[in-house]
Amino acid sequence: AIEKTLSIIKPNAVKQKHVGEIISMLEQNNLRISQMRMLQLDNVQAKMFYQEHIGKSFFDELLNFMLSGEIVVLKLEGENAIARYRELMGATNPCDAKEGSIREKFGDKTDLTQNAVHGSDSKESAKRELALFFK
Ligand code: CMP
Repeated sequence: AIEKTLSIIKPNAVKQKHVGEIISMLEQNNLRISQMRMLQLDNVQAKMFYQEHIGKSFFDELLNFMLSGEIVVLKLEGENAIARYRELMGATNPCDAKEGSIREKFGDKTDLTQNAVHGSDSKESAKRELALFFK
């Protein structure tokens, strides 16, 4: 089925000028970009976005990092887009991400918080996350 999912290019990848290469990878993999924004999160938005992680050991570090600079937020569409984008991203920890995946190429292998990109993990989270950024 055609699905929609949310991608975020995180502050480390923006600062390191990898936005273009990441967008190329999305396009080459037939993940169609239907909406896109560049913005800097505020504290309230970041807490809403990462509400499932509130209270976890890595939450404060994650929030600080996500507030630290501009991000690019994309709405992606395509057949089986949620799983296909997760495959293209690679594992959460860049050290475990398979060769050629976005996180393997652009994530910080010494810091899993700075893993270059985010992607929705289910239809329910895609719906919730897309609604936070796209009206
Ligand atoms: P993301 O897909 O954006 O979802 C939650 C983020 O928390 C994750 O990517 C990582 O950047 C960050 N994070 C930091 N430490 C951990 C951890 N131990 N487990 C999962 N996510 C972590």
